[in-house]
Amino acid sequence: MLGAKGLISLASVRASEIQDFIRSLKAKDSPLKTRAKPVIGLMAFFEKSTRTRVSFEKAGLELGIRWLNFEEEMSSLGKGESLEETFRTLQEMDPDFYVLRHPEAGFPDWVSEWTGAAIFNAGDGAREHPTQALGDLWALEQRGLKKQKIAFYGDVVRSRVIRSCIPAFRAMKHEIFWVDDQTTEGRDFAKSFELPRISRKKIKDMDVVYALRTQKERGGESSMGPLRAKELGDKTFWMHPGPVLQNEDLDWALCQFENPHCLVRPQVRACLEVRRRLLQNFLKGRK
Ligand code: CP
Repeated sequence: MLGAKGLISLASVRASEIQDFIRSLKAKDSPLKTRAKPVIGLMAFFEKSTRTRVSFEKAGLELGIRWLNFEEEMSSLGKGESLEETFRTLQEMDPDFYVLRHPEAGFPDWVSEWTGAAIFNAGDGAREHPTQALGDLWALEQRGLKKQKIAFYGDVVRSRVIRSCIPAFRAMKHEIFWVDDQTTEGRDFAKSFELPRISRKKIKDMDVVYALRTQKERGGESSMGPLRAKELGDKTFWMHPGPVLQNEDLDWALCQFENPHCLVRPQVRACLEVRRRLLQNFLKGRK
């Protein structure tokens, strides 16, 4: 049951587990047993977030989870305490699990080692953002978009979203491509993940284009300019994990988020549902 022990990475999850999880979302939630003692999640975000943080919080509240919020700026990290000692100290308060976002790849594994607790990874550096990728899959599934030709566009090199989307999309038999940005680092990235490259002219042949944000906080800069509406075919859908840099990642015409071919808002709703189900699986997995 995906999420029963937290979720740090999709790279090590079997394709069949991802398929089972997406299939399970089609069934109604089964009721949870009432607990004498509330389950407490500790939320620690060391990078900014709107969607991930608020949706985890809302999903948890709907399931009766109570949240502790760790605020880096108000913590004793500012007095020189180490991260390890900080989390070993937090563990003395006995939270049931953590939701973590941090600029360092691998951070959730360190916290797992320091605390022994279940971890939900809400994004670690450029490594993974597993709940985003599962939400993206669910958004596609809800539109009946199966076995699609999907091209990634934009700053793939610094994107954690794409590193979770690759195993997730392959598990659901989507065919994935990379829109060549003509850079050596982009080509090395595509090669390392065995992503076939396509030129911009071929975007119109794709079923879906997944644009990524230029990750300025990790030194990214746009080498391609925004994805343009005129590059898409008449039936092409477009996705973006958000936040969208309007007219940098997507041109103005593609920032019409109510367009039925735009999946940006459905992705937000799907991620909320996915996080709720993962937390529910976690609660069910507890004795
Ligand atoms: N997609 C995503 O992770 O958005 P936030 O940074 O707003 O959480």
